[in-house]
Amino acid sequence: MIREKLKEEVDCRRNFAIISHPDAGKTTLTEKLLLYGGAIQQAGAVKARGEQRRVTSDWMELEKQRGISITSTVLQFIYSGNTINLLDTPGHQDFSEDTYRTLAAADNAVMLEDAAKGLEPQTRKLFEVCRLRQIPIFTFINKMDRPGRDPLELLDEIESELGLTPWPVNWPIGSGEEFRGLIDRRSKKVTLFERTERGRQAKEHCLSVEDPDLYNIVQPDLIDKALEELALLEEAGAELDMELLHSGDLTPVFFGSAMINFGIRSFLDAFLDLAQKPVGRISTEGIIDPLHTNFSGFIFKLQANMDPRHRDRVAFMRVCSGIFERNMLVHHARTGKSLRLARPQKLFGQDREVVESAYPGDIIGLNNPGMFAIGDTVYSGLKKIEYDGIPCFSPEIFSYLRNPNPSAFKNFRKGITELQEEGAVQLLYEIDLSKRDPILAAVGQLQLEVVQYRLEYEYGVQTHLEPLSFTVARWVTGGWDTLEALGRIFNCKIVRDAWNRPVLLFKNQWNLNQLMEDHPKLGLTSIAPAV
Ligand code: G4P
Repeated sequence: MIREKLKEEVDCRRNFAIISHPDAGKTTLTEKLLLYGGAIQQAGAVKARGEQRRVTSDWMELEKQRGISITSTVLQFIYSGNTINLLDTPGHQDFSEDTYRTLAAADNAVMLEDAAKGLEPQTRKLFEVCRLRQIPIFTFINKMDRPGRDPLELLDEIESELGLTPWPVNWPIGSGEEFRGLIDRRSKKVTLFERTERGRQAKEHCLSVEDPDLYNIVQPDLIDKALEELALLEEAGAELDMELLHSGDLTPVFFGSAMINFGIRSFLDAFLDLAQKPVGRISTEGIIDPLHTNFSGFIFKLQANMDPRHRDRVAFMRVCSGIFERNMLVHHARTGKSLRLARPQKLFGQDREVVESAYPGDIIGLNNPGMFAIGDTVYSGLKKIEYDGIPCFSPEIFSYLRNPNPSAFKNFRKGITELQEEGAVQLLYEIDLSKRDPILAAVGQLQLEVVQYRLEYEYGVQTHLEPLSFTVARWVTGGWDTLEALGRIFNCKIVRDAWNRPVLLFKNQWNLNQLMEDHPKLGLTSIAPAV
C-alpha cells in the first residue's frame, strides 16, 4: 500500500532548476510558469516592474535595494495533475555557488537563452555543472518576439560549443516582428498567436499544419521557410533518444516568448512528458532508489534569517527516497543522533506552510538550530546511509574581514560562523593561530558585500574589508603531511580552511603553474573536498 502510494507520487513529480545568464528572462519565465500552475493569480506578482524589481522568492532587503536576486527558494505548483518543483536559483553571477548547490538537488535543468544572444558566459559555466552531474537539459530560446539570431545557427552553437545534441520540440514561424507561431514537431500542430500590445498575453490559435487556412492567415513565405527548415532537421538532425536526453547528452529545444506568454504551455506539456522523474542518488550503500520504503534526504542549502522578525535558520532538504512525514523519527548520519522533525515547512518565496508529508523530488525546509550542515544526510530505518557530499566552488577573490570593535567579537564570530555554514562565503584563516581575523574567500565581489551587509543588519557588527591580491586557491591532496614533505615553497600563501585543511593561495595562474612544475607529483584540487 505504502509502496503503491509512493510510486504514484514519484510518477507524478518533476523537479528542475533554471540556468541562465542575467537578463535572459528567468524571472519572467518563472512568473509565467507559476501562472499556469495557478500558484500565483496574476502576472506581475512575481516581479514588480520598474524600480522595484523583485521575485516572490527574493526576500532580503539588499535584494530589494539592488534589484537583484541573490537567494533562492522553491516554488511548487501543480500542472496537469503533476507536482512540479522549481528550484529557484539566484540571478546574479556572483552567487553561482548557490546555484551550484541547488543543481545538486535538481533532476532536470532548463537552460534559458535569449534568442538574440545565444549562449552567454554564466549559462556556459552552469552548463558545465549540469554536465558533471549528467542532468538532463531542456533548452528554452526566449524573446522570439524580438529580432534574434537564426534558429538553425542557435542550434549549431549548442551542438558545437557544448557538445549537446539539440532536438527541437517545436519550430518557429518567422522571428522578431514577423514571429507568428510555432509548429510542434511531433503532433504537426501549428499554434499561431495574435500580437497584442507590448507585454500583453498573446492569444493562441491552433490548427493542423495541413490546414489550407494556414496559408490565408500567415504569409506563405514564412510558413514555407519554417517547413523547409523542419524538413532539413528531419533529414540531417538527430532523433529523439530518451536515453541520451536523460544522460544529459541531448537537449530538447523550445522556442517562445516568456514576456507575451507564448510557447509556455507547449513547453510545460512536453517537459512533463520528457523530463526525468525523481532519480536515485549515490550513497555509501550504492544508489538509493526513490521507491525505497525508508525515507532519506540530504541538505543542499542553509539559509539564516529568512524572516527577520524571527531570526530563524532553515535547512533545505531534498527528499530522495520513501515518504517523509511530519514528526517522524530520523537519524542524522554525520552525528549519529536521532531527531524528530516536528515543523517541516514548504517554502514558497516568503510564505511558509507546515507540511504533513513529502515525497522524493520535493524540497522541504527544516528548522535548523545549528545541527545541519550542507551535504548532511537524514534517514529513517536501521541501516545507515550517507549521500555523496556537495563540493564547493573554487573562490577567486579574497579579503581579510576586520572587526574593529572588540566588544562585538562574540557576535562577529557567531555571524561569520553561521554565514559560512550557510555557504554564503568560505572562510580561510592564517596558520598563525594568534591572527584571528578570517579571510573571506568568494566567487564574486557582491558575495563579500552581502556578508558585510548581513553581519551589520542581522548580527549588529560593522566590519571592513581589506582585499588580498590572490586570485587562485588550491586544496592540497594529502593535507599537512604532504605539504610539510615539500619543504619551502614559493610565491604562494599557505592558509587553512574552516576544517583545518591546508589551502594554497596564488596571485595568478602563472605562480600556480610554476609550483606544479617544481613539484609534479603534488596533488592540488580547485574545488574544496566535501566535508
Ligand atoms: P532575468 O530574471 O533572467 O534577469 O530576466 P528578466 O525576467 O528580469 O527579464 C529581463 C528583461 O527581458 C526584462 O526587461 C523583461 O521584460 C525582458 N524579457 C523577458 N522575456 C522576454 C521576452 O520573451 N520578450 C521580450 N521582448 N522581452 C523579454 P526589462 O526592460 O529589463 O524590464 P521590464 O521593464 O520589462 O520589467
